[in-house]
Amino acid sequence: MAAGEGRAVLVTGGSRGIGRAIAHAFAERGDRVAVHWGSSADLARRVRDELPGAGHVLVQADMSDAQAVGEMVDRAAWDLGGLDVLVNNAGIFTAHPPLSTSYEDWQAAWSRTLAVNLVGAANATFRAVPHLIAAGGGAVVNVTSRGAFRGEPNNPAYGASKAGLNAFAQSMALALAPQGISVSAVAPGFVQTEMAREVLDGPGGDAVRAQSPFGRVARPEEVASAVVWLASPEARFSSGTIVDVNGASYLRS
Ligand SMILES: NC(=O)c1ccc[n+]([C@@H]2O[C@H](COP(=O)([O-])OP(=O)(O)OC[C@H]3O[C@@H](n4cnc5c(N)ncnc54)[C@H](OP(=O)(O)O)[C@@H]3O)[C@@H](O)[C@H]2O)c1
Repeated sequence: MAAGEGRAVLVTGGSRGIGRAIAHAFAERGDRVAVHWGSSADLARRVRDELPGAGHVLVQADMSDAQAVGEMVDRAAWDLGGLDVLVNNAGIFTAHPPLSTSYEDWQAAWSRTLAVNLVGAANATFRAVPHLIAAGGGAVVNVTSRGAFRGEPNNPAYGASKAGLNAFAQSMALALAPQGISVSAVAPGFVQTEMAREVLDGPGGDAVRAQSPFGRVARPEEVASAVVWLASPEARFSSGTIVDVNGASYLRS
């Protein structure tokens, strides 16, 4: 696998937002992309059709359905003729403020959030590993969040799911290095997508933008460029790292 050779890349949640930008970024450098979707069939088809290059495919699965995720990963590898890169990007952000949520809704939010954001990514990775080994090595990049470090007071399950995904990346980096597979994470702050629209367009939007000294939130393309770098052979030795894309809105060392 060398830069520019054209790799096989599976992007979960490729139907819109950051996943769409990631699919574009890989396709623009000559890679073949499996655009995964959950419920946005039309949007996913549009992304597949607008990607530059050839050989892009569509795959579907609810990320909370372990059986469907396994079959989806195998299907992507089959349709692409192998698999070199998995990007675990699909995710949900459901509010469940601890002081005003019923116990029933609290449980539902925790179950669903962890099932999609964390267990879904773990299952996709597990099923991608044999394909990555067959390809002679590769990369797994997880899209996590600044919220894993900074806290998510209205979405604690989300923050926990992303902290878990960071820890999962680090464990898998150790486990898979002997196979020539790097595993890493990109942790964005707020990004201009549908997921963040309610916050960014609401009364607190300006305050969120002011969290960064740049006075704005990230563009999806800025997250995509970090993902593409982490998936590159040149970044193999950076396995286990977590790259912040938050406009210096939250600094850690
Ligand atoms: N936007 C932000 O401010 C921000 C900040 C930090 C991190 N992130 C992370 O970045 C990633 C992408 O976020 P985004 O902003 O692009 O969100 P988005 O616009 O809401 O898109 C979410 C994507 O995830 C997919 N998805 C959600 N639930 C799914 C499920 N159960 N099964 C299968 N696919 C599912 C959606 O597919 P369908 O529509 O086809 O179901 C969609 O493609 C997420 O992991 C998110 O946590 C976002």
